[in-house]
Amino acid sequence: VKIYADGAKLEDMIAAYKSGFVSGFTTNPSLMKKAGVADYVAFAKKVVEKIPDLPLSFEVFADDFETMEKEAEKIHTFGKNVYIKIPITNTKGESSIPLIEKLQDKGYSLNVTAILTIKQVEETVAALNPDVDNIVSVFAGRIADTGRDPIPYMKQSVEICRTKKGANLLWASSRELFNVYEADRLGVDIITCTPEIISKLKKVGKPLEQVSLDTVKGFNTDIQTLGYT
Ligand code: E4P
Repeated sequence: VKIYADGAKLEDMIAAYKSGFVSGFTTNPSLMKKAGVADYVAFAKKVVEKIPDLPLSFEVFADDFETMEKEAEKIHTFGKNVYIKIPITNTKGESSIPLIEKLQDKGYSLNVTAILTIKQVEETVAALNPDVDNIVSVFAGRIADTGRDPIPYMKQSVEICRTKKGANLLWASSRELFNVYEADRLGVDIITCTPEIISKLKKVGKPLEQVSLDTVKGFNTDIQTLGYT
């Protein structure tokens, strides 16, 4: 599985790029808000300047399809490595599939996002152009947040994406390091991870006795600050 970095902090993105550890990047409006991105276009252009040769995903902001299309046209001009993120629906629950088809006809690479149902995966993959490289982002973590096991959803999504050339399945909203292993085992193409999860990847295989000791040491350090006698 390819590992992408999920976030909108420019320094983190550059560090991940330089580490050579990740194969691409994803962002979204919530991540940009969290990172304090004030000027979206300036931010995106800066990212493309610093990371010119790995896939980058930037999302449209509008809620109506006409404006979304205009934004998509603009995002497309940012760089050859840019995938336009289109949410599968707007906030009214209206399907983005007609817009996705339109943008596919133009040959634009898309990252169809906020997908949680198998029906949405099927409709998206059906709308994709096999001559274009695209990303299908299924939010495994948000499926898990509802108490459902995301594995059967991801397994079925792998099968559906395999029916269309260029449809790369991305495991979005990863919640823990083990998701990387689950995604890999299922044959998912990409998993996007927060910097916290990526940093844990560097500790893979650490002896459990050592982790046990580190845990007790952590408790001990915190006990000192509590001042209990
Ligand atoms: C990536 O493309 C997604 O936007 C991201 O992984 C979503 O993560 P979240 O569901 O934890 O917000």
